[in-house]
Amino acid sequence: MHTLTGTTVVIIGGASGIGLAVAREVVAEGATVVLGGRDTTRLDRAVTELGTSADAAVVDTTDKASIAAFFDRLDRVDHLFTPGASYGRGPLTEISDELAESPFRSKFWGQYYAVKHALPRFSSTGSVVLMGGAYGARPPVDGAAYAACNAAIEGLGRALALELRPIRVNVVAPGLVDSDLWTKVPASVKDENFASYREKALISRAGSVAEIAHTVRYLMTNTYTTGSVLYPDGGYALR
Ligand SMILES: NC(=O)c1ccc[n+]([C@@H]2O[C@H](COP(=O)([O-])OP(=O)(O)OC[C@H]3O[C@@H](n4cnc5c(N)ncnc54)[C@H](OP(=O)(O)O)[C@@H]3O)[C@@H](O)[C@H]2O)c1
Repeated sequence: MHTLTGTTVVIIGGASGIGLAVAREVVAEGATVVLGGRDTTRLDRAVTELGTSADAAVVDTTDKASIAAFFDRLDRVDHLFTPGASYGRGPLTEISDELAESPFRSKFWGQYYAVKHALPRFSSTGSVVLMGGAYGARPPVDGAAYAACNAAIEGLGRALALELRPIRVNVVAPGLVDSDLWTKVPASVKDENFASYREKALISRAGSVAEIAHTVRYLMTNTYTTGSVLYPDGGYALR
């Protein structure tokens, strides 16, 4: 298996939630991390927590030039994980075009261009872990474009695994995760989503960021896994 000791792991969206949980795991294993995100205060706080093995820079995944500039300052990338995305979702007849298109703009094209700009610095033994979501396999009733975006990311992962080999490319597609993302929505929206998820998943609860980080670490280190999609979702997609 590939060890993370001595590697450089780049995590766009690494200042909080799932990204920060992955950063904690890989630093504990001896990797250096470079975190990306939009908010310098949040990035600084994460770097302080992670210690001397961490560095950070501002990047916005909705902005191609910002993604290019982020990677320009890096010498080497061994592993790339890209959960940083800002988007909304809503019913077809109610959502604005701007919001409906936001998952593709930030989560799909953001990850596409992150891989593109990381590539000149990528080690041949490295890997990419794209962030998808179980809604790609089992859509919610109020998020057609968001569900389609997650399904498209699964296709992107398979296509890039072919195109970029020997670099391995995989997708993690979590179900509902109790991350910092849910502190940004009204409590009633969070409660409704979590209650509905408890009913639908085989394991009747949301996942933890540590459970998703464990899956991401597996995808980074298992040298025989490429072109795969893993669903740490408590059985949501199955039922
Ligand atoms: N939580 C869930 O239930 C769940 C389920 C399935 C999939 N996901 C996926 O997980 C990712 C979110 O992770 P999370 O749940 O851990 O939420 P989170 O804690 O809100 O983390 C998102 C991170 O991404 C950064 N970010 C947001 N928009 C960005 C942008 N445009 N450019 C660069 N960085 C950006 C945020 O920092 P700044 O705001 O400072 O930029 C933040 O650190 C998304 O891709 C989401 O689709 C989440």
